[in-house]
Amino acid sequence: MIRLDGKVAIVTGGAQGVGGGITRCLARSGAKVLIADIDVETAGNMAKQLNESGYESVSLRVDVNSFADLKQMVEVAMSEWGRLDILVNNAYNSSEAQKGGVLEVSEEQWQKDINSLVTSVYAGSKYAIPAISETGGGSIINISSVHGLLVARKALTYETGKSAVIALTKQMAVDYGEIGIRANAICPGHIVTERIQESTWKDNQSGLEFFEDQYPVKRTGTPEDIGNAAVFLSSDMASFITGHALPVDGGLTIQLQENFGVQQAHYVMDNPGTKMPYRR
Ligand SMILES: NC(=O)c1ccc[n+]([C@@H]2O[C@H](COP(=O)([O-])OP(=O)(O)OC[C@H]3O[C@@H](n4cnc5c(N)ncnc54)[C@H](O)[C@@H]3O)[C@@H](O)[C@H]2O)c1
Repeated sequence: MIRLDGKVAIVTGGAQGVGGGITRCLARSGAKVLIADIDVETAGNMAKQLNESGYESVSLRVDVNSFADLKQMVEVAMSEWGRLDILVNNAYNSSEAQKGGVLEVSEEQWQKDINSLVTSVYAGSKYAIPAISETGGGSIINISSVHGLLVARKALTYETGKSAVIALTKQMAVDYGEIGIRANAICPGHIVTERIQESTWKDNQSGLEFFEDQYPVKRTGTPEDIGNAAVFLSSDMASFITGHALPVDGGLTIQLQENFGVQQAHYVMDNPGTKMPYRR
């Protein structure tokens, strides 16, 4: 097991979901973790559980859309533990993103989504980099998505934002490698979080099986899949890896989509009258 003993980490949105998996994996590897989340109650519960299990964690109410909160987040980690080694920029509230393309997304919505997807990563990193460099450097991990690599229909702000997160990651890697900062992005495939399980799959087990079938590994991801990747990228074992966008997606993005078209064509043959939902 990779050990991160003595290291201090911040995970934004670390109370649950993907961030929850990252928090648990970092803590189990020996890092002290500041859980920076807008949901102060869930973050507090996560910290309590980790501390009761013998790990070290503190929770803090942070809204990643607030520069002041992000600045304070770094100050709290430094005053609590005297150093900072790892920042994971993960928080995002997907229910706030508006579906649509350039024509449908309003100017206000564009600004709001790009702020929460991209500006939050810029600002969190801006405050963390000086602190991380004080002890010789460390690792920034930005949670992008397979949607940062490939584009789905009518998802303008999410796809643009997650793609920008990869560019921002590369920029930081190039600019701050010389002061010991490595920056990498993780591009998760579909991760079944507490929220997604409740909203999408709880009453649709067979739908989930269809969905999983498109993944070469025949399953969707867990928060711990992303947490394990974050532990590796945080560790000295990844000391020569920077500026990388790592898909953690069970092979989803390496695969030609055409086979799904063939499957759909067969489905239509077996179910005459089936109409394409988007075809005009
Ligand atoms: N779940 C997936 O399938 C998936 C796939 C690819 C990428 N991602 C990315 O992973 C990250 C986490 O997504 P998730 O699915 O775990 O979401 P989630 O809703 O399950 O959890 C998000 C966490 O972030 C917190 N949060 C939300 N807005 C915040 C804010 N403004 N400030 C601070 N904390 C805030 C929430 O309280 C929650 O604890 C996002 O960046 C998302 O785009 C998720």
